[in-house]
Amino acid sequence: MLAKKSGGQPITMLTCYDYPTAVIQDEAGIDVIFVGDSVGTNVLGYASPRDVTLEDMVHHVRAVRRGVVRAYLLADLPFGTYESPESAWDSAQRLRAAGADGVKLEGGAERSAVVSVLSERGVEVCGHIGFTPQTAGPRARVQGRTTESALELVRSARALQAAGAFMVVLELIPAEIARVITEDLQVPTIGIGAGPFCSGQVQIFHDMVGITPFSLRHAHRFAHLRPTMLEAVAAYRDAVTARAFPGAQHSAHTDSEELERLRTLLAAQDSQS
Ligand code: KIV
Repeated sequence: MLAKKSGGQPITMLTCYDYPTAVIQDEAGIDVIFVGDSVGTNVLGYASPRDVTLEDMVHHVRAVRRGVVRAYLLADLPFGTYESPESAWDSAQRLRAAGADGVKLEGGAERSAVVSVLSERGVEVCGHIGFTPQTAGPRARVQGRTTESALELVRSARALQAAGAFMVVLELIPAEIARVITEDLQVPTIGIGAGPFCSGQVQIFHDMVGITPFSLRHAHRFAHLRPTMLEAVAAYRDAVTARAFPGAQHSAHTDSEELERLRTLLAAQDSQS
């Protein structure tokens, strides 16, 4: 990742929660396949990312690991699982045992102690500043619009890097501030709603392929799968209802002699009972 930043090559990162999507993303050459705690709202039907447990993350990291052979596999430490260096260590160990190459956590300078203990023990840690869904309210708001709050973001990014973070996600911050942070840090930044000047970009897979029913300013629909999926499901419903599916080509057949023998056997059994 550092080599990509130094070489001026953008890093590509996408969220991923399951095996078939992991296979596709890996085959497509995505650099970082990321099991985010957004699995809670995008896949598990939870109301908040705070509802995601470590067990949920372990389950999804395992599934994604089975599909990733080439990319870097990053996984979120869920809310409440990294309050102290020791709890963070235990949680990170669980995610690594499930197949994660590195872990991501939210927060700035206040997370320095956790990040340094994990890094010293050999865990690769990605920071996440700006809008931080685990601790922010439900409304996604751009952070760092004032000089003071932007300065706080720069300080946080520096503190995470000094503590050993190998990468920092910048979520919902003005493009100019993301540029200042990216130029200030040696380690790469990955933006989501943070403009084009970051070292790389991350998107939520479900937004990017248009499965999510709403559209967000910072997300671009590279495909619009929701209407296609809805159409396919409705066509299936109609075909089954009209007995048009399955057709002859979808069915296996037995020869008439075997069928006749079966009927004879059944009739003989029925007459004995
Ligand atoms: O969980 C997630 O999807 C994230 C991204 C917004 C970076 O943390």
